[in-house]
Amino acid sequence: KDSYKDGIIYSNTEISPNIYEIVLEGEFKGLPGQFYMIRGWNGLDPFLPRPISIADLDNGKIKFLYEVRGRGTHIISRLKKGDRLSVLGPLGNGFNLEVQGKIALLSGGIGIAPMLYLAKNLSGEVTIYSGFRNNAYFLDQIKPYVKNIFIATEDGSNGHKGFVTELFDPSKYDLVLTCGPTPMMEVVIKMCEGQVPVYVSMESRMACGIGACLGCTIETIRGMERVCKEGPVFKGEEVVL
Ligand code: FES
Repeated sequence: KDSYKDGIIYSNTEISPNIYEIVLEGEFKGLPGQFYMIRGWNGLDPFLPRPISIADLDNGKIKFLYEVRGRGTHIISRLKKGDRLSVLGPLGNGFNLEVQGKIALLSGGIGIAPMLYLAKNLSGEVTIYSGFRNNAYFLDQIKPYVKNIFIATEDGSNGHKGFVTELFDPSKYDLVLTCGPTPMMEVVIKMCEGQVPVYVSMESRMACGIGACLGCTIETIRGMERVCKEGPVFKGEEVVL
């Protein structure tokens, strides 16, 4: 079952500078927090697959957000409706969706990717705190599923000028879920410690995505664990940062 299959591109749109939303048609499954390995081919130019988390899933279509960072994502960004992409998934675990009550989502940059599908599937009262370098994106789609949105940008062009963690008060929530750059998640874990349970979605470079290459391991309180298999979602207190 661990083999790549084709997804047909339905749309591939730049929603903010260097940030793309790609929608594929096909038979897809997955839980919030899970990811797919995505591999594109441009003529004879293959690249290593990239792990990309599920941004949304419904009616035979799956959505992913990605940031153009290197050659692989640049190739994906050139693909058009009707082109094919090879995908493998869903992979990894997912977020804890059982909790009721007040839930805070914290995202940094492209860490906003899993938040739409997550907000849709949580039954508690959801507030999202999203930080960006400059332009905010994707929040228009998340808006119908959350009670409040707080925005911070490093240059102050949207919302609060500074870090999104400066807006966040962990004592107001029953559960915190976060995805973003490691230094941000480190701050979130520290803020929540002893107050509220926090789950983090870790990012890692991945070659296989299925637990075989050990290229994605991180240090946890249990020893080294694979982000692609035991993660990408970990309890905050389990991760050694
Ligand atoms: Fe190969 Fe995780 S990417 S073990």
